[in-house]
Amino acid sequence: MARKPMMAGNWKMNNAIGEAVVLTQEISNNWWKDWEDKVDVVICPPFVDLKPVKTVLEFDKTKIFVGAQNVYWEEAGAFTGEVSVPMIRECGCDYCIVGHSERRGLFGETNEDVNKKVRALLGGRLKPIVCVGESLAVRDEGTTNEYVCAQVKAAFAGVDADDAAKCVVAYEPIWAIGTGRTATPEQAEEVCAAVRAQLAVLFGEETAQAMRILYGGSMNPGNVDALVAEPDIDGGLIGGASLKCDSFIQLVKAVM
Ligand code: G3H
Repeated sequence: MARKPMMAGNWKMNNAIGEAVVLTQEISNNWWKDWEDKVDVVICPPFVDLKPVKTVLEFDKTKIFVGAQNVYWEEAGAFTGEVSVPMIRECGCDYCIVGHSERRGLFGETNEDVNKKVRALLGGRLKPIVCVGESLAVRDEGTTNEYVCAQVKAAFAGVDADDAAKCVVAYEPIWAIGTGRTATPEQAEEVCAAVRAQLAVLFGEETAQAMRILYGGSMNPGNVDALVAEPDIDGGLIGGASLKCDSFIQLVKAVM
């Protein structure tokens, strides 16, 4: 089954509003209208940039999606510092990253939290980009596939096949994030294929074949071609290389 590729930029905690607007304008100026049929592009800026980024894209009529980097599962209430699904939807988001390893590692996000966020997003008609990935210690133990598949299983607990089909999975080996050390295409494909097999167990072969699986971890214009040539890698979730228009556009072109 042909899956539409996706290139998603995770700006992490970079680009205050002024910089975010300039970078979005630059990306928008380099966007060709017919690309929207060939690739889904998502920009995931910090919360404060969501509305300004969306406004630039809407003004230019550029069909690039906006996504948040995190969300809380409750709709409203006494949850100091948190942002809800309706709030990010109102900012114009279609997607939201969930379970990034930086959230899991630095902020204690558990598999159960990830699952609550996935279900809250689907309930609010937003599409989760569910991140999974192993540490170097897990890889060295030789249990990467089991570890990552357990993360997938936990993230999608209680989700039905129709909703799962709206989700994206991003495989991001922690040891490759921001380190310049990319997984080889073979390493990345082995895990992405295992993730797809796990999705097939959970939701059936047809849904698993329709779901997009991205690779993330030091993906850049120099290594993207070999990675996305793999049968189970449908694009990228990009950190550092999404912060410059040139490199991000090169990555977008590489998956079309
Ligand atoms: O969400 C993006 C990933 O953490 C990859 O980041 O491209 O800077 O390695 P990176």
